[in-house]
Amino acid sequence: MPAPEHMHAAYVESLGGVDAIRYGLLPVPRCGPGDVLLRVEAVAVDNVDTFVRSGRFRTEVTFPFVIGRDVVGTVVDRGADVTAPNIGDRVWCNSLGHDGRQGPTSEYTTAPVERVYSLPAGVDPVVAVAVAHPAATAHLALYTHAGLRAVDTVFVAGGAGHVGSALTAMAARSGASVLASARAQDHEWCRSAGAAQVFDYAAPDLLEQLRAAAPNGVDVLVDTSGRLYLSDALELLALRGRIVVMAGMDRKLECRAGDLYPRDRSLLGFAISNATTDELAEAARHVTTLLADGVLRPRHIEELPLSAAGEAHRRLEAGEARGTRLVLRPDN
Ligand SMILES: NC(=O)c1ccc[n+]([C@@H]2O[C@H](COP(=O)([O-])OP(=O)(O)OC[C@H]3O[C@@H](n4cnc5c(N)ncnc54)[C@H](OP(=O)(O)O)[C@@H]3O)[C@@H](O)[C@H]2O)c1
Repeated sequence: MPAPEHMHAAYVESLGGVDAIRYGLLPVPRCGPGDVLLRVEAVAVDNVDTFVRSGRFRTEVTFPFVIGRDVVGTVVDRGADVTAPNIGDRVWCNSLGHDGRQGPTSEYTTAPVERVYSLPAGVDPVVAVAVAHPAATAHLALYTHAGLRAVDTVFVAGGAGHVGSALTAMAARSGASVLASARAQDHEWCRSAGAAQVFDYAAPDLLEQLRAAAPNGVDVLVDTSGRLYLSDALELLALRGRIVVMAGMDRKLECRAGDLYPRDRSLLGFAISNATTDELAEAARHVTTLLADGVLRPRHIEELPLSAAGEAHRRLEAGEARGTRLVLRPDN
């Protein structure tokens, strides 16, 4: 069935607060020569979507700007230069909505073909879209930036979160020994994701417990909470250990240079928005394989209609979605 002229979309006319989100009709976008047009099945709501919408994360946007980043959809049209995927194929994309690209919180969306990946048969589109962003982030942290090896001991601070769960599952699957921190009620979840040992992040003797669990030090430490003190992280780190900083934008990081370079330790920061299309495609291959194998699981998903995009942003910003992935689906 050909795409209609107009579609429902959640969009903003200028960057700002959540009240700026409108839900209404916009023209269905047209494919450029290297694009595919997708009929949207599911869209995730990520923290970064709120950062882009509010202007906190600076990136090129054009108005009206359709919000969002991650989508699963079916190809309904393709540009003249596109030879694959085929019309009718189900694909996913996790890099719309920044760098001049429109987001996908709409009934149809275009995506550059080099940014879309096949979704294997049997993988639930809602699960796939829920996992895409945290899992691709985890891949970039562990493999692209920290160079994870099977012999490594990894500490995931915030192990029960969306990114933390994916970090744990991936690192454990790679053969690394994973330590994670979480609140007590989430320990079982972290263990089920693959953590060998889980620690209460609020325990006053957390550092002592972690040092006892990893007497030779931690090789890779990823803080998904943005709340770990850098000096504490360095106390845990092995010779040649790597700390990955990926959250806590406004947090000051302070340490003694002597705790870093004389032990060949590195501090690595990254944002998925800077990943190249090759890096994203490599992460996507890994994520797709683990999705097909059932290794990547979201903790809890709540489905909402596209028209509830504003409410979803509000809840995420208010911290009311703890442990839950909000996924938007076309209203009918
Ligand atoms: N750099 C990038 O490219 C990139 C990509 C994706 C996400 N991010 C950022 O990464 C962060 C995590 O994202 P997410 O989706 O995984 O969020 P999330 O699901 O909220 O995970 C954060 C986790 O940190 C835990 N936590 C809170 N305080 C802690 C503490 N003091 N010590 C250890 N853990 C603590 C939380 O536990 P409770 O639930 O018990 O509070 C939660 O499980 C966000 O800030 C997000 O913006 C960055």
